[in-house]
Formats: sequence, C-alpha cells, structure tokens
Amino acid sequence: MKISKNVSLKTYTTFGVQAYADTVVEIEKEEELQAFFASEYAKGPYMFIGEGSNLLFVHDYKGTLVKMQTKGITKVADQGRQVIIAAKAGEVWDDMVRYTLAHGWYGLENLAIIPGKVGSSPVQNIGAYGCEVKDFIYEVHAYEIATGNMVTFSREDCEFDYRNSAFKHKWKGQYVVTEVLYALSSVPNVNIQYEDVKKRLEHVSPITPQHVYDAVAQIRREKLPDPAVTGNAGSFFKNPIIPVSKYNKLKEVYDLKMYPISNEVCKVPAAQLISLCGWKGKRVGEVGVHTQQALVLVNYGEGTGEDVLHMAMQIQADVKEKFDIDIQMEVNII
Ligand code: EPU
Repeated sequence: MKISKNVSLKTYTTFGVQAYADTVVEIEKEEELQAFFASEYAKGPYMFIGEGSNLLFVHDYKGTLVKMQTKGITKVADQGRQVIIAAKAGEVWDDMVRYTLAHGWYGLENLAIIPGKVGSSPVQNIGAYGCEVKDFIYEVHAYEIATGNMVTFSREDCEFDYRNSAFKHKWKGQYVVTEVLYALSSVPNVNIQYEDVKKRLEHVSPITPQHVYDAVAQIRREKLPDPAVTGNAGSFFKNPIIPVSKYNKLKEVYDLKMYPISNEVCKVPAAQLISLCGWKGKRVGEVGVHTQQALVLVNYGEGTGEDVLHMAMQIQADVKEKFDIDIQMEVNII
C-alpha cells in the first residue's frame, strides 16, 4: 500500500483541473484491501477511483482517494468457441482490449481506446459503437467492505443498464471491484451495426476484429479530444430517454435522430440537442464545448471544476428551456 499526502489531482483525472486530495492510497495487491479498511484512512471520507476519466473535482478532496493498481490478465477457461478471461481491476482498459485481440479473443474491439480501468468497466457499463461491456461480462469479483470477504456477482446480479449498474445504486459504497471476468469469442465475429463503423469499413473484406478496433479508434480520435492534449471526460451528459409521443412532437419541428428502446420510450442524442441550442464549439474562458462533439466538455488548460460545472448547468438549462428535456450528467461531480 503506497501512501501519498497532499496530492495535486491535476493528473489524476482526464479533465486535468486543479484540486488537492489530503491522501492518495495505491493498492498494489488485493490483500492490501484488508489493511486499508483497518487503517485510519477508512474512518474518514474515502473514494475509489480508476483513471479519473469520468470524474470532475469541483473542490479539494478532504479525504483519501484510493487507486487499485493490481495487474494481471489470464485465460481461466477455454470452452471451445468461448473463452473466459480474468483481468485485475487495475489493468488499463485499452491495454486489456489490445491484449485480448492479440491472443485471438474477440468481442471487445468496439470498445477500443476508451480511457479507464478494468475495475470501472462494470460499474459504469461502458459502451460505444454498438456495444456495451455488459454483453461480455461473465462475472465480477469484489471485496465486500462490511465483511472483508471476496464475493462473486453474475451478469444478472449486476442489473446492468445504459451507463448504469447495481454498483451505482443499491450496492453503492459496499464493494470494491477486484477482478472482472469476460466471456469472449475465439472465433472472429464482428459487430458493425453502428453506422459510422459500417461506413468506414464498407470497402474492406473480410472484416476482422482488428479492422473494427482500428476503425473505432480512428473515429474516436477524430471526434473526441485526446485527454493528454485537451482535458475532458468523454461524454459529459447521458443521452436522455423520452416518451415516443414527445419525440414525435419534436420531430415535427426538428430533424431529431432517435434510437428506439420500446413502443413507449426512445433515446435521443443529447449532442444534437446541445448543438441545436448553439453550444457546439463554444468557448467560455478556459473551458468549452468540443468543436467535433457537442456532448464533450473540454478544459483548455487552466479551467477549474467550477468553470466546467457552471457551463454544464447552463447547457442543461438551455436544453430544458428549448426542448423541455432534462439531460443528466454522466460525469461524477466531486
Ligand atoms: N451529433 C450532433 N452533434 C454533435 C455530435 C453528434 O448532432 O456534436 C448527433 C449525430 O448526428 C449523431 C448523434 O448525435 O447521429 C450521435 O452521435 P455519436 O454517434 O457521436 O454518439 P453519442 O450518442 O453522442 C454515444 C456515447 C459515447 C460513444 C458514442 C459512440 C453516451 C453518453 N455517449 O455518444 O460514449 O462513444 O455514442 O457509440 O452514450 C462516453 O460515454 O464517454 C462516450 C464517449
């Protein structure tokens, strides 16, 4: 267990805003979780973080941030066409995706270059380009804080939903994800249902999972700012789910896209709503709305968490006024 005091968080989140934490603890072995929870640090406020790719610090953190740094990726079962791969929570997500592809274990290629750690992938049910990680999660192993026991959750236990899971509501603060098991395919089976991906690969034949990985990575690089250059946390808002009746009314006025969910409700792209409110590419001092993707708020360098939050709230208010739709923040505000 590595302990650091009075830590600048500028490099602890992909937004790159300045804030300080009293303490940062790094867990290098799962066994250290026992020691952490027996320590004084677990008596005050604490929070487990991954790569900080979905976090915005608006104030200094008066407590302890804990990072899982455990590593390891192993094949735990080979069932012919399906393999079960176990990855430790501290593995960098994209390292794991590339590792699986290189070994001929397919399925995660649509989730190329998402910033984050393996341990956060089930919490948030990360998704992109026609795929959600829930479709590949076999089991989640976690440390139960109340008992100190290791527990196993099945995919069904986790109650996965769009950018959501039981870890975010009914189990909030009760478990630390230590390892995730993914059920992958040992036969290439590509998913190109997402329009942008399909278009990019229309002249490629046969299409391999590596082609899909490369296409997704290319689209992301074009649309999303590189956090190493411009601070951001990917999509700042979730796409809102609205009644189909409301969508039909809006459609009379705006050429609004939609993704069907059921006969009653559908999802609409928040990026389009934000663009229609005139926010796309707008800059206010050190923060702004990305020029290529209106769902992404950016820090041009010296922006504060408060600057970003203030702009996000103005965007929410404008979308509410123009469309009578509430867009929820996807990023966690601390
Ligand atoms: N659009 C606009 N203006 C924009 C950008 C997009 O009008 O500035 C419209 C486009 O016409 C497009 C639609 O909005 O038809 C959807 O855009 P896009 O395909 O870029 O996807 P998104 O719904 O904006 C979601 C995820 C992303 C993920 C992409 C691709 C959420 C909150 N975001 O964005 O996830 O990469 O789909 O699958 O669901 C993230 O969660 O951090 C993230 C980046």
